[in-house]
Amino acid sequence: MSLTRRKLLAHSAGLAAGLNLSLPLLAQTPLHMTTIPSSGQQIPSIGIGCRNYRGDAGSAEMPVFRDTFAMFHRLGGKVVDTSPNYGNSEAVIGNIMRELGIRDDLWVATKVDREDAAGGVARMEQSFELLGGDSFELMQVHNLVGVEVQLQTLQEWKQQGRSRYIGVTSSSDRQYEEMEQIMSRYPLDFIQVDYALGNRNADQRLLPLAQDKGIAVLVNLPFGRGEMFEAVGNRALPDWAADIDASSWAQVFLKYVMSHPSGAIPIPGTTKPHHAEDNVVAARGRLPDAALRATMEQFIDPLIA
Ligand SMILES: NC(=O)c1ccc[n+]([C@@H]2O[C@H](COP(=O)([O-])OP(=O)(O)OC[C@H]3O[C@@H](n4cnc5c(N)ncnc54)[C@H](OP(=O)(O)O)[C@@H]3O)[C@@H](O)[C@H]2O)c1
Repeated sequence: MSLTRRKLLAHSAGLAAGLNLSLPLLAQTPLHMTTIPSSGQQIPSIGIGCRNYRGDAGSAEMPVFRDTFAMFHRLGGKVVDTSPNYGNSEAVIGNIMRELGIRDDLWVATKVDREDAAGGVARMEQSFELLGGDSFELMQVHNLVGVEVQLQTLQEWKQQGRSRYIGVTSSSDRQYEEMEQIMSRYPLDFIQVDYALGNRNADQRLLPLAQDKGIAVLVNLPFGRGEMFEAVGNRALPDWAADIDASSWAQVFLKYVMSHPSGAIPIPGTTKPHHAEDNVVAARGRLPDAALRATMEQFIDPLIA
């Protein structure tokens, strides 16, 4: 079995070879955990992205969103990523967390996306109101907008205990060079960047740098906004999927990200309970070693346009 140095996989007697377990038993099997280098805190190696949690309180999607969160939480999921930039996502998930009474169980990351200091503070105060809790677990500068100014404020907020961790995000190669500079200049706890089996540019410099500097990594777009599923179409899973206890393409894609030596934590966006279940299951069972990671890359490359 291959594990990255920041992953822990405790086995329980109930961990079956395959993962077609009934939910109660599945919920008892341990998740891979990632250690945050700046604190030593361990959090599950899988999260949920909330870019598409938008809509009116009475709309038909709301109960489905709530059920998705309930599933994620029930299976041990904790890491939640949102932004004031995602429509009314913060309000929607704030309400869901209050309704389900699970805010204190979750590890909530949001973002700030303003150029000036006062605008940034106002934006974060609003996020605080909407999301609830005593503090943010992670506040990130979204897409490096106003990054120098916002990181000054974020360092103060961290000192005041209003955000336990601070970081920056991007999902574009065009920002990688700037992100690299910021990682060298500021004491970041986290970066968030796009990385997927079919999109590996972040692995050239950013992920190794994060590893060297002891910066934890959240991974956005682990499915390339769904393009990874289009690439594989209705192909059957390759035989090697069984070697990493993967029973779906989503689990293959997530296990690839999770097995990066940086201890990367994918935050797949999902608004469906059965997808949340599929994705949290990916953080259980075996992960690919370096040789299998190379095999996975060779498999996917011809399928990516
Ligand atoms: N610059 C930034 O800071 C930045 C940029 C982009 C994204 N993000 C963050 O990263 C998160 C993830 O990105 P994303 O949501 O845009 O893209 P993604 O995670 O790559 O893909 C999301 C798509 O995959 C589908 N999906 C999820 N689980 C699935 C499963 N098990 N099987 C089949 N399909 C599945 C979702 O559909 P359903 O909804 O139907 O499940 C959705 O269409 C965002 O929600 C956001 O929190 C941050």
